[in-house]
This record gives sequence, C-alpha cells and structure tokens, in this order.
Amino acid sequence: MQNECWGVILAAGQGRRMAEATGGEAKQFLRWKGAPLWWHSAKAMAASPSIHGLVFVFPPEKKAEAEEELQKLNQSNNLGVRFAVTEGGARRQDSVRHGLEALPDECSQVLIHDSARPFLKTALVTRLARALDEIPGICGVIPGLPVTDTVKEIDEDSIVTGTPERAMLRAVQTPQAFPLEELRTAHHRAEEEGLNVTDDAALIELYDLPVLVIEGDPDNIKITNPQDLTMLTETKPLLPCCGYGYDVHAYGGNRPLMLGGVEIGGDLLVSAHSDGDVLLHALMDALLGCLAAGDIGHLFPDNDPRFDGISSVVLLDHVMSMAAEAGLRICHVDLTVIAQKPKLAPHAEAIRRNVARLLDLPLEHVAFKATTEEKLGFTGELKGLKAVALVSAVR
Ligand code: CTP
Ligand code: MG
Repeated sequence: MQNECWGVILAAGQGRRMAEATGGEAKQFLRWKGAPLWWHSAKAMAASPSIHGLVFVFPPEKKAEAEEELQKLNQSNNLGVRFAVTEGGARRQDSVRHGLEALPDECSQVLIHDSARPFLKTALVTRLARALDEIPGICGVIPGLPVTDTVKEIDEDSIVTGTPERAMLRAVQTPQAFPLEELRTAHHRAEEEGLNVTDDAALIELYDLPVLVIEGDPDNIKITNPQDLTMLTETKPLLPCCGYGYDVHAYGGNRPLMLGGVEIGGDLLVSAHSDGDVLLHALMDALLGCLAAGDIGHLFPDNDPRFDGISSVVLLDHVMSMAAEAGLRICHVDLTVIAQKPKLAPHAEAIRRNVARLLDLPLEHVAFKATTEEKLGFTGELKGLKAVALVSAVR
C-alpha cells in the first residue's frame, strides 16, 4: 500500500542535562511501568489508526541491546504495526535524517517524536496525522500550547532586545507531522547549508513552507531536567478497607473495669488474662481485620504469662506498629460498648479522647457510643459486657 504514515521514535540522545541524576543513563532508557521510556510513546503512536509503522532511532552503541528489548516487548505486548531500527547521529537533526532514510518506499507522511515524551496520547497522534491529511497545501502540523510566561528576546549580554506578543506565541511539542518528501528535502538542504535546528518544523519554516500549530497536550511533557524525574515515580493507588472487631468479657473477675484505656472504676470487676479492656480488644481486632492479619487471641494468647495483667494500651501499640509497617492509614473508627451497667455516658468523652490520642486521629474521626440491651441477654443479666469496633482505613 502506498501513502502510508509512519512514526519515527527518536531515542539516540545522550540526556546530558540529567546525566548526573540518572548515573549517566540516557533518559529514554530509564524504566517506567516496567519498560524503557521509549517504549511508551511507541505504544501510543502505534495504537493510532493513522500510523502504519515505526522507525526506532537508537544510539549506535546501544542499538543491538535496545533492538533485542524491543523484540521482547513486542512479543509480550504487540505494537500491531511493522517497525524498523536504525542508528542515531551526533545531533538530534542527524538522528532524524537517519530515521527518514530507514523509512520504507510506501511511506509518504511521517511523524517525528522525541522518546523523552513518554506521556504521549494516541488521540494527539491521530489529530496530527488527520490534519496533515485533510488540510490542503500544509507542509507540517505540530502541537503547541499557549505560553503562560511573558517571553523576552535577549542579546549575548542578556540585554532585552524585544518582547514578542504573548498571544501569538506557542510552546511546541512532538510528534510533528510532515509530508515525507518535503521533510527529506529540508533535512538534506540543512545538511548542505550547515544549519542547526532543535525541531523539524524549523527547517520547513526556513524554506517558507506553511506549518500549522494545532492544540497540544499539557501532559505531553519532555523529560529534560533532573526535577522532571518525579513525574516517573510510580505511586500505588490507596485502596480503602474496613475492619470489624467484637469482644466480650465476663464480670466477676478481679480486674477493675477499663474501657478505651480509661479506668472506669466501680464495683463491677472484669474477668480477663490481660487488663480486660473489652473496647481496646474489639478495636485491635478491627485493626487486624484491615490488615487481614488474624486476631488478638492468636497474637497475644491468653495462656502466655507475658500477657498476664498486661495493659491493652501496650498491646494496641504493637498492633499499631504492625499497621504502620503494612502501610495502613486509619481514617475513622466507630466504637460501641454494650453494657447494662455501669452508666457510661459520664465517661464517653474521656474514652473518645483517649482512643483518638492512642490512634493519633483527630477527635472528629473517633465515634464512641454506649448502649444497653434493655436488660436482655447476658449484658442485661449483668454477666458481662461487650464491645464492637469498626475501623475504616486506606492501604
Ligand atoms: N535525540 C536523538 N539523537 C540525538 C539527540 C537527541 O535521537 N543526537 C533525541 C533524544 O533521545 C530525545 C529527543 O531527541 O528523545 C529530544 O532531545 P533532548 O530532549 O535534547 O534529549 P537529549 O539530547 O538526549 O538530552 P540533552 O540535550 O540533555 O543531552
Ligand atoms: Mg539535546
């Protein structure tokens, strides 16, 4: 088929401006989402229905290795288009020229793209190719964005020589789309005339051929300076989770009643191996529920002498360390104690504040309620009390 449109993926630069930050590795070989940067824009380009094939331009010394990786990536995640590989040159424009030479005879239009722009979207590729196809007489279509800063022209001594009207300025990106014949001619003439340019459109403009700017994509950033590396850090999404806890203690033991780490006192004593804080026990089980890490009976067995009479605050501290280690961020806790006696309303605020302190949560994210079971069941018969806890968190 004639009149094919191909992409040229430029990946032959040295990345000098960020060599120190990458330990000398050229930026287009940095890995992101399990593949080198050059792969990402290649995938975006190949996914456009307008693109029939790709030429990859790699540094001569890395060509064999990069080609092998390209074959492997294509095997597991097919590009779906033909592709070829060639060697780059010393300047960007040399690499483009080599890329153009590697295009097949069927190709009549080309999109030149910097592989250092890994966030390229297929939609932009298609818009560029379509505009080149559909607008009569146009010799280049490039993506551009309005500039937000006022731009100054200066001389060698940094003296301002002019202020171009901002509304008429555009910061341009790649891919840049051209009819192949015009771009080839422009590059050969530039070679003969010894011209240096930073983008391909500049060559077309030099020969007074019309180039159209269409709306670019603000996300289509070029990784250029060390601070741009933060854009490649991969953050795992936080997933919400809930944990539920339930605990019961019998009255009639020898432990003074503790709830949420607060001593309630009174004549109802609790039977327990630890201090018998039924509320903190339910809370710990809810936290462990968020971690899917078993329960407190398993973590702190009641036949282990180390836990005899131990404060539940100490046990909670241990569970909180486990939660921190697992990357759990607690958002909210909702706690209820079910007891016929004693009356808990006078203690509610102290319990709530103490739990907020223990969990390092703002007070408005700790709810505490107390209720009776209307003299029914074992709480109604004053045989014991129970607590339930619900923890919501993100991991
Ligand atoms: N490029 C290329 N061949 C060159 C120079 C640059 O293929 N001789 C490619 C780069 O790999 C990059 C794109 O052109 O994808 C844009 O160039 P730039 O951002 O300047 O990259 P580098 O030249 O690699 O970086 P630096 O200028 O910091 O050295
Ligand atoms: Mg460069």
